[in-house]
Amino acid sequence: MHADHGDPAEFWEDFYSPGRRPWSGNPNQALVDELDRLPLSPATALDLGCGTGGDALWLAERGWTVTGVDIAAAALAQAERAGEAAGLAGRVTWRRVDLDDGIPAGAWDLVTSAYLQAPVALERERILRGAAMAVAPGGTLIVIGHASAPTWMDEPPDHMHAMPDAADVLAILDLPDWTVERAEDILLPATSPEGVTGTRSDSLVRLRRPKA
Ligand SMILES: C[S@@+](CC[C@H](N)C(=O)[O-])C[C@H]1O[C@@H](n2cnc3c(N)ncnc32)[C@H](O)[C@@H]1O
Repeated sequence: MHADHGDPAEFWEDFYSPGRRPWSGNPNQALVDELDRLPLSPATALDLGCGTGGDALWLAERGWTVTGVDIAAAALAQAERAGEAAGLAGRVTWRRVDLDDGIPAGAWDLVTSAYLQAPVALERERILRGAAMAVAPGGTLIVIGHASAPTWMDEPPDHMHAMPDAADVLAILDLPDWTVERAEDILLPATSPEGVTGTRSDSLVRLRRPKA
């Protein structure tokens, strides 16, 4: 369920419109923590809903050859500028893709999706199933998402009512032949814009596709 904020492409272009920098540009800590402890050699990676590129650029810095896709050209423009400033321009390909229309064709050693969630229409479940198909044999899929609204939020908006936890994400993916390397809900501190403290929970799922 989602509130009616209109056309998704228009919503996200406006979200990233000039002068608006909704994210810090830093990578998501959950992804950093996850990859820092994995013995994965950098290869090819696909970041679905990459926003302004924090995760994609962090991966590129560590030697991955990355494709970052997002529906918002304005987000990709911010990401591209950040990549140029960091000397990573040649290591990330930015592509404007509406994932509701399908996942880019190809096979990547690592496919990530971090907080691909929206207050507008988004076929997230179908996209996640498609994301799995974009993982190369032996490759890794990491899905990170909000699993609950922050506790300080008295009346969460509609789209925050049914956020899947890790078990739900596994059920959505429905990949019985894959190895589930991690499926966990993580409780995190959350502070409201007014400074009210509380917690929220994120889901983290990591699976490995069987080799051929
Ligand atoms: C909550 S943001 C997360 C951004 C980034 N992954 C991060 O963690 O900072 C969700 C992102 O998904 C993108 N998005 C939403 N719907 C999309 C779609 N149908 N196709 C591609 N990207 C989409 C938005 O533009 C936005 O950048």
